[in-house]
Amino acid sequence: MNIEDKIQWVYSSQNNQELTERYDVWAKDYEKNVDDQFGYIGPEPAADVLVKYVSPDARILDAGAGTGLVGEILHQRGYHNLEAMDISPGMLKEAEQKNVYTKLHQGILGEALDFPTATFDAIISVGVFTYGHVGSDAFDELIRITKPGGYIVFTVSVGHYENSDFQTKFTSLESSGKWENVETTEPFLCHLKKDTGVQLQVWVYRIK
Ligand SMILES: C[S@@+](CC[C@H](N)C(=O)[O-])C[C@H]1O[C@@H](n2cnc3c(N)ncnc32)[C@H](O)[C@@H]1O
Repeated sequence: MNIEDKIQWVYSSQNNQELTERYDVWAKDYEKNVDDQFGYIGPEPAADVLVKYVSPDARILDAGAGTGLVGEILHQRGYHNLEAMDISPGMLKEAEQKNVYTKLHQGILGEALDFPTATFDAIISVGVFTYGHVGSDAFDELIRITKPGGYIVFTVSVGHYENSDFQTKFTSLESSGKWENVETTEPFLCHLKKDTGVQLQVWVYRIK
């Protein structure tokens, strides 16, 4: 399968089980494919934004960590209290080999998360709120497990945002006093070597 087909293959997953199986299969080649062939950026701009708000000693969850690209960048920038969570055991196995996470957790965004309330100082989630992956219903649990005053930094692909209910959800969480928006970047193309047209934005919310 070529790389374009592989991305469509995961985007078109019909349910979490199928998505997990597909990422498990892809795990070993994921970085080679997205880095070398697509010139994937996403982790860097999100990390650039996180460092403005979150101190290096913060306990941070990388939600949908995949193979650990985000953890690797944050570790290089002095963040060492990092934990990884992902639905795919195969992706987590690759992330473990980076030696940048203190703990790895298998978990499903969009369902109840196995962490106590107010556990993390910050959560980062990159490349996860996209086609066929995770919807806006995941935010209630992410907010619950973040400490008041903490931050959730995440990317949403622009097309997914426009075709789903993110705007309604974000506004509803803001008007019910759960979080406040502190930054939203301009959209940027996340594949520098191929013209896929996929654009991401980085969103930052502060938990109340
Ligand atoms: C495009 S990859 C991004 C990985 C990494 N954050 C990066 O930027 O390279 C999406 C990741 O989200 C994970 N994922 C998809 N749906 C998920 C869910 N419901 N709960 C947790 N992880 C999920 C996949 O297993 C995969 O590792």
